[in-house]
Amino acid sequence: MTLAAVRSSVVLNPQLEISGGRQLSGELTVSGAKNSALVLMATCLLSRDTVRLRNVPPLTDITGMGEMLSSLGAQVVRKGDVLELTGDRISNAAAPYELVNSLRASFFCIGPLLARMGMARVPLPGGCQIGTRPVVEHVKGLKAMGAQVTIEHGVVNAVVPGRGHRLKGGRIHLDCPSVGATETLMMAAVLADGETVIDNAAQEPEVVDLAALLIAMGARVRGAGTPTITIVGVERLHGADYAVIPDRIEAGTLLLAAAITRSTLRITPVIPEHLGAVITKLEEAGCVIKHDGIGVTINARQINAVDLRTQPFPGFPTDLQAPFMSLLATARGTSVITENIFENRLQHVAELQRMGAAIRMQGNTAFVEGVSRLSGAPVQGTDLRAAAAMVLAGLAADGITTVRGIEYLDRGYAFLEEKLNAVGAQIRRVDAT
Ligand code: EPZ
Repeated sequence: MTLAAVRSSVVLNPQLEISGGRQLSGELTVSGAKNSALVLMATCLLSRDTVRLRNVPPLTDITGMGEMLSSLGAQVVRKGDVLELTGDRISNAAAPYELVNSLRASFFCIGPLLARMGMARVPLPGGCQIGTRPVVEHVKGLKAMGAQVTIEHGVVNAVVPGRGHRLKGGRIHLDCPSVGATETLMMAAVLADGETVIDNAAQEPEVVDLAALLIAMGARVRGAGTPTITIVGVERLHGADYAVIPDRIEAGTLLLAAAITRSTLRITPVIPEHLGAVITKLEEAGCVIKHDGIGVTINARQINAVDLRTQPFPGFPTDLQAPFMSLLATARGTSVITENIFENRLQHVAELQRMGAAIRMQGNTAFVEGVSRLSGAPVQGTDLRAAAAMVLAGLAADGITTVRGIEYLDRGYAFLEEKLNAVGAQIRRVDAT
């Protein structure tokens, strides 16, 4: 039973109660990357052998993805932070609506299902709080590889015509460097007949992690981490034993916990090149950050305003825009924060304003005038990263902050309150009813 399942079995309407204004000290451990583990799990559909993933975080999204893969016939066995996934008996190419609707990442199965079975029926993942989340690029790329794709009644029906129902390599230019589209098309291409080139590909570390696993399974992939990825299809893939990279977004969130409480913390493991833009911005804001090979130590005393513009990797990550805004709400001076990736990812502004933040909005830009102290208040996490932003703000605020919407938090952060309490925070999970 995952941590979140245990928790929800105990507290019916959970919220976090944070007593702010405490300095933190010590060392924090970063879990495996959610946004890597989710896509790596889908590769089990590409092979009849077992894919063994290590360093898998205990999150509700991971559980959901396991249920979705099991519904297709895969065997999914969890042993601590190890997941063993075996796709030797994929009996069904239709992903259930309720599972895809509750977990967008389930849409990752369409590429490998088409590659393996020559067909797939997957409900559209639909939008969420932060945007409409279209899958136009995913569908366009699959069509370029020979799939016939129709969308009816909210379901994507894809089939590969012809003998053997095998996708064929193609040249694909993405209109935008979509992470999900890049990963979907990589998984479709590894078993296709011929060479596939993906131009304007996403360069996120999670894309590179997927390529490394596929290569470990016998795939021929070049260029992951650059704008052009080339894949030469093979007949079949074998199993692999692979460790998921550390979660760079969790690591960034923990660095921000040190910065917003003006503390010194060591965060490990951290792959510095996964956090280049974030570390640069924290140093620009006045933090002193030292790398020691497997971790970083951050020392924060005085925080100055900085400007942020979210970009595809290696630019500043959209997933840390909300947490970083909490820090800048307490900085000296006015920061300009522009959200360029998602059309509706500034809902945390209203919640920060309830805590006394001085923020003025203009379209997708927030002008954040730092205040000397935030004040604790009841606030709502409106998405995964906004919920984390509210926890950070609560750490720094005077008095008690209660954060609702922490079901979002449990989707993306393993043991967040336990980790922070172990270094001096005072956070309780209580029942909001
Ligand atoms: C992945 O989402 C992550 N999720 C997101 O993390 C992350 O914020 C996002 O990449 C950007 O880095 C997972 O990996 C499971 P995109 P994804 O396709 O793949 C537009 C979190 O908090 N777009 O790169 O869905 C889209 O609307 C989550 O952990 C199109 O216009 O992101 C968005 O504005 C949130 N057409 C932008 O691109 C398309 O066909 C980035 O989307 C596809 C995308």
